[in-house]
Amino acid sequence: MEDEARRRFLGVCLGGLGAAAAGGVLWPVYRYLTPRSGDEAGRTFSMAEQDLPEGAVKFFDFAGSAAVLVRKKGGELVALSAVCSHLGCIVQWDKARMSFVCPCHGGQFSTDGVVLAGPPPRALAKLPVSVAKGVITVG
Ligand code: FES
Repeated sequence: MEDEARRRFLGVCLGGLGAAAAGGVLWPVYRYLTPRSGDEAGRTFSMAEQDLPEGAVKFFDFAGSAAVLVRKKGGELVALSAVCSHLGCIVQWDKARMSFVCPCHGGQFSTDGVVLAGPPPRALAKLPVSVAKGVITVG
């Protein structure tokens, strides 16, 4: 009798572990296959205006790609794709030069995304940016 209770208890425990393992495998597959929406898909990005002082940049994910927010000297905000227009490397911020530099082939871009030097054929793509109640929103 006691053995049967143990077997039943062990069966319940193993069944629970099996269900947890199946969930652990199937959940990521489900998340991969189903489309995401809204902020979850990274189609908007927000941050406090006070956290981006003049001359600062903030890199973030935007719609599955790298993007950057720039607070230019004088306070103007610019949001850009951080994907180089040459072969798609992610540009980096050069604070000393106040410009973006591509690590792959040396392309350089201004804070407005305009090509300053190197092989990139066109400017970094601009993204829509707005400010309301102290919050910067891209997208
Ligand atoms: S990928 Fe940026 S300069 Fe070539």
